[in-house]
Amino acid sequence: MEKLFITDLDLKGKKVFVRVDYNVPLDEQGNITDDARIRATLPTINYLLDEGAKVILASHLGRPNGKVIPELSLKPIVKRLHRLLNKGVKLASNCIGPDVKKQVDNMQPEDVLLLENLRFHREEQENDPKFAKELASLCDVFVQDAFGNCHRTHASMVGINGNVLQAAEGFLIKKELDYFEKAVNNPSRPLVAIIGGAKVADKIKIIENLSKKVDKLIIGGAMAFPFLKALGYGAGKLTIEKAIIEKISSITKLARERSVKIYLPVDFVIAEKFDGRAETKVVTFQEIPENWIALDIGPASTKLFSEALQNAKTIIWNGPMGAFEIDAFSRGTYAMVETVVDAHALTIIGGGDTDRAFHKMGESYKVSFISTGGGAFLELLEGKELPGIAALTNK
Ligand code: 3PG
Repeated sequence: MEKLFITDLDLKGKKVFVRVDYNVPLDEQGNITDDARIRATLPTINYLLDEGAKVILASHLGRPNGKVIPELSLKPIVKRLHRLLNKGVKLASNCIGPDVKKQVDNMQPEDVLLLENLRFHREEQENDPKFAKELASLCDVFVQDAFGNCHRTHASMVGINGNVLQAAEGFLIKKELDYFEKAVNNPSRPLVAIIGGAKVADKIKIIENLSKKVDKLIIGGAMAFPFLKALGYGAGKLTIEKAIIEKISSITKLARERSVKIYLPVDFVIAEKFDGRAETKVVTFQEIPENWIALDIGPASTKLFSEALQNAKTIIWNGPMGAFEIDAFSRGTYAMVETVVDAHALTIIGGGDTDRAFHKMGESYKVSFISTGGGAFLELLEGKELPGIAALTNK
């Protein structure tokens, strides 16, 4: 069902509650180390300011679980917003209560107020109806732009919608959904998905859903082992649940029937232990000695995967090829980053680790789109409906 969009709203002089996801990484001193999620909301904020709205921004940061944790205050965000918007932004001392209400009532058109961390109240995560109503009482209309949190059924994501007259998608939500549509539901073909990471159990539903849509599926990282096992090859000392093997067998069978090609690594970088200084070797997967662990894909796999990507028109990537945070095990992931950015294809990246690999190589700007969602992006890939979007007003 098509949802109301921000441009459908009458915004002049209105109090607009904008749910954003400013859950950004902070270093030990509380400095923001990546502000992509803040920048991604600027089109919505700027549009609201141009329309003469009063902009009330609300977000969570971290997982304070209902306690006020000063290190998780949105203070650093307000400073960054101030710089990015080039205008004064105030931080409220709370997200509900009489003081906040008064502050909101005193707002003038084009003012921007950031509410304090929503998760300082446990009612936020419990989707408490009273709390949702209190949040809604601050505004005339609601705009959802917290894509990264849209898989959460929290009060400011879901409950609030039933208490406002209109709840619309912001520009970030639209951009995320449009790219997803272009990449997964209506792609230029061949469509190739690269799925990596360590735990196959976390991504089995994604692989199942994607294998119905893609032309090629590249599997990297440690999750390649259950696939190799399902295809009848050994998996060394690794014990893999029988249910997972059965699931993978049925996915690979259906993929074959649909002529979807699945590519698995043929060699690995192995080490005696998970340590960047440990001795390493490159071996075929059949030759991994007992007690050694595979921590990256090897050069033959990189070549195989790069060739599989040559004719791709759309590439979607989630999950690294190995333990790329450690230099000794980063080559497979970085070689794939280079192949992907050189491809003449629409390229969509999602999930924190993959995003970090592109940032680390300074190649982010060459990708068509990097999703701001971690869990939310994964749930879209699984084919799930996101509650934070489902709750918005239908057109
Ligand atoms: C995220 O960073 O993925 C979102 O902000 C959701 O955060 P959460 O996993 O703490 O709910």
